Amino acid sequence: MTLGPVLLLSGPNLNLLGQREPAIYGSATLDDHVATLRAVLAGGGVDLEHLQSNHEGDLIDAVHGARGRVSAIVINPGAFTHYAWGIHDALAAFDGPIVELHLSNPNAREAWRHISVVAPVATGTVCGFGGAGYALAGQAVLGLLGRSGSS
Ligand code: DQA
Repeated sequence: MTLGPVLLLSGPNLNLLGQREPAIYGSATLDDHVATLRAVLAGGGVDLEHLQSNHEGDLIDAVHGARGRVSAIVINPGAFTHYAWGIHDALAAFDGPIVELHLSNPNAREAWRHISVVAPVATGTVCGFGGAGYALAGQAVLGLLGRSGSS
């Protein structure tokens, strides 16, 4: 059966990965992480689309454009995780699986990072595993879509 692509959404400042606070976020670039996720999904015959934006409305528009077309969403919302209710509401109107993804473990950091407004509308969250999280998120999505032997 043909499945729609998976959409990876990357929020603010993630375009700076590789240069930005490498002690927290690592030295790999966003392109590296996109390539990791793309390779895992390709193993299940699923394509990947990616959008990075520093603007909440762009991400909301992308979620709207995913409705009825995209099979699953993986989202690292960056700091929008903690307050962007517009993204929460857009994701709530998406029908397929949603994986919330973070390089760091926000729950082990400053108190303001302990709240996620995305978590209540996500199928599940992968956080704290650095770049390996992109592969883990891909495996989770393949399982949710029935494209993995381990699901
Ligand atoms: C992040 C965690 C957020 O708290 C932070 O604002 C980010 C990156 C992560 O991937 O660890 O920008 O989403």
